[in-house]
Amino acid sequence: MQNCAKNIAEYIKKHTDIEVVTHQDADGIAAGSIAKKALEREGVNATITVLKQLDESFVQTADKSASKLYWFTDLGSGNLDLLTDLNVVITDHHELEVNDIELSQQERTNLMELSRVLTRTHNDFKYHLNPHLFDLDGVNDLSGAGATYLVAKAMRPENIDLSTLAVIGAVGDLQDVEHGRLIGTNRKILEDAEKIGNVKSQIDIRFFGRESRPLHRFLMYANDPVIPGLSKSESRCINFFKELGVPLKSGEHWRYWVDLDSTERKLVISELTLILVNNDMNPDEVNRMVGEIYILPNEQIRTEVHDAKEFATLLNSCGRYGAADIGIKVCLGNRMEALSSARKMLKGHRSNLVEMLKIVRDIGVSELEFVQYFNAKDRINENVIGIVTGMMLNSGELDTSKPLLGFALCDDGKNIKASVRVARQNSEFNLNLSDVMRTAAGEIGGIGGGHSIAAGAQIPAGEEEHFLERVNELLRK
Ligand code: C5P
Ligand code: C5P
Ligand code: ZN
Repeated sequence: MQNCAKNIAEYIKKHTDIEVVTHQDADGIAAGSIAKKALEREGVNATITVLKQLDESFVQTADKSASKLYWFTDLGSGNLDLLTDLNVVITDHHELEVNDIELSQQERTNLMELSRVLTRTHNDFKYHLNPHLFDLDGVNDLSGAGATYLVAKAMRPENIDLSTLAVIGAVGDLQDVEHGRLIGTNRKILEDAEKIGNVKSQIDIRFFGRESRPLHRFLMYANDPVIPGLSKSESRCINFFKELGVPLKSGEHWRYWVDLDSTERKLVISELTLILVNNDMNPDEVNRMVGEIYILPNEQIRTEVHDAKEFATLLNSCGRYGAADIGIKVCLGNRMEALSSARKMLKGHRSNLVEMLKIVRDIGVSELEFVQYFNAKDRINENVIGIVTGMMLNSGELDTSKPLLGFALCDDGKNIKASVRVARQNSEFNLNLSDVMRTAAGEIGGIGGGHSIAAGAQIPAGEEEHFLERVNELLRK
């Protein structure tokens, strides 16, 4: 991958007219910011375009001249056929398009091997860095921001400082979730970030909101794992801390997890462990509670930018509501207006998610043999349907043995967005949802793709049932 990164870096340096095209989620914003900053250091003032997904409409109006270079970050690999007429470099981690999932496993393996070789040597895409091209995975090994960072680092050693954004991107794509820590290439990137003192990894409780939620609310919203008797109940969480003798307030101020000393933290963690064990939770699930967290020590404590996971959520709050530019500014170092605007977006995002989960409960989840689903129609925005689907599936309220698929009406009113997720407890799931979505959507004039355990599609409105039947059928196969 390093050689590939070097080639791409040299190619990029031959250009001055460059447009970065990236994805609107946290990983995409971090990836686009890395590219932007690296180009700035080469004296290139690049524009950034942020997309929900890559489709024909972007390519139709794109500049096809040889002097114009498009740098696709966190997207592109799934749509190579669209990009043949453009001068491109791609740093991405999505599944490559190619597979026909109705082949036998052996045929598929052969075809995938062939497609890897083909793509690797494909003249049109010499400048394509993606972990799948190196037999690595795009779920845990490397994110879009990470792939982009490898190229940035090959452009100039001083770009090592951009490793911080690559860690944020990986965490934003939940690449630390399955193992409770970053692994593979992500781990090497983390080492870069730690070497220069920008990130510090620590073993701690992994619930969201260590820096931003008062203790009782921190526990109340814990969902990985869900804590029986405490999750969702504010009063029981308050009692829990009282009974342990851990004060919720210091003077007038609420205490956050980061305010607890190590004895208090150990006390809480061991008590929570007891609750989980007494509720017959399996050891793997119990273990998920504690793992690696990533602190940004040069940022101000008790702010969202002090913790990689919260930083990523802040970026999602911008990107998913059409304000990716604010997220990019925060990534590039703005801690004044951009950060305060991003915080406002975050507040809205959080309360929005609570509302959206209520809506899903209200609609109810229906089941087919191999997939469960809900159709939110125009009640949930297409940009957050993926997050809501993932949260709902991992809420402890649903059967986690089947993938969950959520539908929402697109902003254009003509299409439907579909998002599908596999539960965390089911991550050795041996099917590729990216293929399923691509195939089922492709058959009805839509587009789809993503990752093995998290994928999405856009299909014409009115085709939901037909699409679902195909998804079910493909999953059966
Ligand atoms: O487009 P992109 O690659 O950035 O998005 C990856 C998606 O996969 C994210 O929405 C992330 O939440 C999801 N994911 C997941 N569970 C995982 C890993 C990733 O839902 N274990
Ligand atoms: O939108 P959502 O969060 O459900 O997307 C899950 C994954 O599928 C992301 O990595 C996203 O980039 C990908 N996706 C895609 N093509 C689509 C929709 C989503 O590759 N049409
Ligand atoms: Zn990504």
